[in-house]
Amino acid sequence: MAINEKVAQVLNDQINAELYSSYLYLTFADYYEDRGLKGFANWYVVQAKEEADHALALRRYLLDNDFKPQMEAIAKPDKTFSSDIEPLEAGLAHEEYVTSLIHHCYEVAHEVHDVRAMQMLDWFVKEQGEEETNARDMISNMKLFGCDPKGLYDLDREYQNRVYTQMTALPL
Ligand code: FEO
Repeated sequence: MAINEKVAQVLNDQINAELYSSYLYLTFADYYEDRGLKGFANWYVVQAKEEADHALALRRYLLDNDFKPQMEAIAKPDKTFSSDIEPLEAGLAHEEYVTSLIHHCYEVAHEVHDVRAMQMLDWFVKEQGEEETNARDMISNMKLFGCDPKGLYDLDREYQNRVYTQMTALPL
């Protein structure tokens, strides 16, 4: 069964949104590198890789459903930060926005009874919930522990431990 054109288009748009997320998080990592907070930088490099996987999973889904994806231009991230909590807050706001995009994809699929796309998007719905929780936790950790140098050092070491593992829930 051919994929519905509207569903294909929102999923294609989502590829761009995921690649933008990846690009955005690299700028967060750059900010923390510049600050000497290599653990925070590592956390966002891992996040950038995960976002790229999300784009690949959507691309693979379109290909497997006989739709040729179109790679559009990725916007330049334009945020500048003047304190260590600001990227974390921007990260939460961004993930909430991405959640709204994923929900929109789901609603479009639901409208045309595209059960296959809905099933695939279930994973993204769950993932967005987890990413929002992670983003909120990072903000509260920073507020609780990041205000003194020792606490910030410990947090940075904790975030250094995050390791990238390639997404396996969906084919890439
Ligand atoms: Fe893949 Fe965090 O959006």
